[in-house]
Amino acid sequence: MSDNSSNQMWGGRFAAGPDAIMEAINASISYDQRMAPQDIAGSRAHAAMLAAQGIITDSDATAIREGLLTVLSEIEAGEFQFSTALEDIHMNVEARLKEIVGEPAGRLHTGRSRNDQVATDFRLWTRDQLDAAESGLLALIHALLSQAEAGADWVMPGFTHLQTAQPVTWGHHMMAYVEMFGRDLSRVRDARKRMNENPLGAAALAGTGFPLDREMTSRDLGFDRPMANSLDAVSARDFAIEFLSVASISAMHLSRFAEELVIWSSAQFRFVTLSDRFSTGSSIMPQKKNPDAAELIRAKIGRIFGANVALMMVMKGLPLAYSKDMQEDKEQVFDAADNWMLALAAMEGMVKDMTANRAELEAAASSGFSTATDLADWLVRETNLPFRDAHHVTGALVALAEQKGCDLPDLTLEDMQNVHANIDKSIYDVLGVHNSVASRMSYGGTAPARVREQVARWKEALA
Ligand code: ARG
Repeated sequence: MSDNSSNQMWGGRFAAGPDAIMEAINASISYDQRMAPQDIAGSRAHAAMLAAQGIITDSDATAIREGLLTVLSEIEAGEFQFSTALEDIHMNVEARLKEIVGEPAGRLHTGRSRNDQVATDFRLWTRDQLDAAESGLLALIHALLSQAEAGADWVMPGFTHLQTAQPVTWGHHMMAYVEMFGRDLSRVRDARKRMNENPLGAAALAGTGFPLDREMTSRDLGFDRPMANSLDAVSARDFAIEFLSVASISAMHLSRFAEELVIWSSAQFRFVTLSDRFSTGSSIMPQKKNPDAAELIRAKIGRIFGANVALMMVMKGLPLAYSKDMQEDKEQVFDAADNWMLALAAMEGMVKDMTANRAELEAAASSGFSTATDLADWLVRETNLPFRDAHHVTGALVALAEQKGCDLPDLTLEDMQNVHANIDKSIYDVLGVHNSVASRMSYGGTAPARVREQVARWKEALA
C-alpha cells in the first residue's frame, strides 16, 4: 500500500498514502510480529466478551474467533505475508482476518483501540518472559546447589580486593550465588504480580460507552484484575521498565559470576576446568581453550542495562496518554529478554558441566598466609591478648614467614615464641585450612556443616 491509496484502517480522512520514509519510520511490524500469539489471544478474548455482552452477535464472535485461529496457524507456519503498509501486528492480523471472514472482522475493534490492544499484548508478552526467566533462574540455582553439595568441604581461597583473605569452601562460594539468583527469582515473581493487570477495555484513553465486561477479559487472559484507570492503562510502561530493571540486576549477577569463571579457568588460577561444550579454541594458538560463553555473559549486562536506560529515556517526558514514542519500547525489551534468557541458559550449562579442581583450590587456599586471622583468633582465645595486639603479633609472624620464604605452618615453635612467648604447639592446629573453615561455624559461615544447612534450606524452599 505504498502507492497513493490511503490506509484501509485509519485512512478515511486522508486523500493520499504516506511517503515511503513516513512508512519506514512508522512501521513496527518487522519486530512486533513477535507478539502475534498475544495479539490473537487478546482479540479472541475481546470478541468473546463483546458477544457475551450483546455488543456483537454470537455468530460474528464465532467467525472472528475461528478466523483468528486460522491467522495464527498461518503465522506459525510461516505462510503469513506481513505488510509494512499495515504498520503493526494489530492491523496486519485484522486485515487478514477480514480477508478470511469478511464483514464480522470489522466488528472486532468495537470498544477497543490499538492503544489498549498494544498495552495488553505487550504485557502478555513480557509476562511470558518473566515466566521463562523464572524457569531459567530455577535451573541455574539447581545446578549451583549440585556443585555446592558436592564440594561442601572443598577448601579454596576466599578473596577480598582479589587478594587471598581467608580460606572458604567451594560449596560456600556456590551458595553465595544461589542467594543472589534467589533474590533475582523473588524480584521476577514480585514484578509478575505487579504487572498482571489488564489494560484491555481502556480503549483509546478514556474508556468507552460500550458496556464492556473487563473482568471477563481479565479472567480469560489470566490477569488478576482490570487496570483501574484507563489513562494509566494505555500509557503505563513501568511494567516493561521493571522487567528491564529486574533483568539488569540479574545480568549483573551473571556478569560477576562469569568474570570469576574467566579468572578461575585461566592457566594462572586453574580453579576450574570448563567443559569443551562451553569453550572454544583459537584459530592460531592450538593450546587455547577460551571461556567465550562466560565472556559473552559478562558482556550481556551492557545491552540489557542499555535497554533499561533507553526505555526510561523514551518514557520520562511523555504527557498522558499514548504517544507514538511508546512504540520504541518493544525492541528494547525483546532484545534484553532474548539475551537474558540466553545468558541464564549458558550459565546453567557451564555450571552443570564445570569441574572444580580440588587440589589446585586447596593448594591456593593454603598459600598467601590465609590462616593469619585464625592465628590471631587463637592468641585472643588462648593467651587472652586483646584482638588489636593479637593482630600486631600475627603481622610480625607473617613478616617473619615472608622473610624466610615459608608459610605460617612452616615456622618453628621457637620462631613463634621469639615473637610472642606465650605461643605453644597447639597453635599449629588452627593453621591448617581444613580446621580454619571448619571453625567458621557462625550462622551463614563457611564451615561445611553450615554450607550443608544452606543447601538443605534451599532444597526445601524449592521443593
Ligand atoms: N504499533 C503501535 C505501538 O506499538 C500500536 C499503537 C498505535 N496507536 C496509535 N494511536 N497509533 O505502539
